[in-house]
Amino acid sequence: MSVANRKQSNLRYQNLNELLIKLFPLLQADALNQGKSIVLDLGEIANLEIDSNEIIQLVLNLTRNGLEAMAQDGCLRIKTFVEKQTVVLSFTDEGTGIITEHISKLGTLFFTTKENGSGLGMPI
Ligand SMILES: Nc1ncnc2c1ncn2[C@@H]1O[C@H](COP(=O)(O)OP(=O)(O)O)[C@@H](O)[C@H]1O
Ligand SMILES: [Mg+2]
Repeated sequence: MSVANRKQSNLRYQNLNELLIKLFPLLQADALNQGKSIVLDLGEIANLEIDSNEIIQLVLNLTRNGLEAMAQDGCLRIKTFVEKQTVVLSFTDEGTGIITEHISKLGTLFFTTKENGSGLGMPI
């Protein structure tokens, strides 16, 4: 439903790092429950015009995928930095990565390689 729901974004200038810091305890609790961990590595970035609900959903989905991709003791790194005048939000997990054939399918509704996956995280 969230994928189909193309309602207007509620854009506001705000700091992505602050949003990540607010979300962090929730994300870390999830990770620790699975014997994994998350590290925030936040660089100095300008405020961005973003919809906080959209970004929260995005962070949750990418964090979930990262955690699901890793074995016990795995560490997920969530990083912000500036590259060529663009703010980058990056997620790096210690899983096996995504095979080339699958990369072009990311974002296709219901594409999943997981037994109980929905294939909705990336499209959202
Ligand atoms: N961090 C990741 N590591 C490896 N594969 C990934 C990762 N994130 C996404 N994928 C691949 O993309 C597919 C689609 O992801 P997603 O849309 O979130 O659906 P789901 O997680 O329900 O399978 C996953 O099934 C997996 O094959
Ligand atoms: Mg997912």
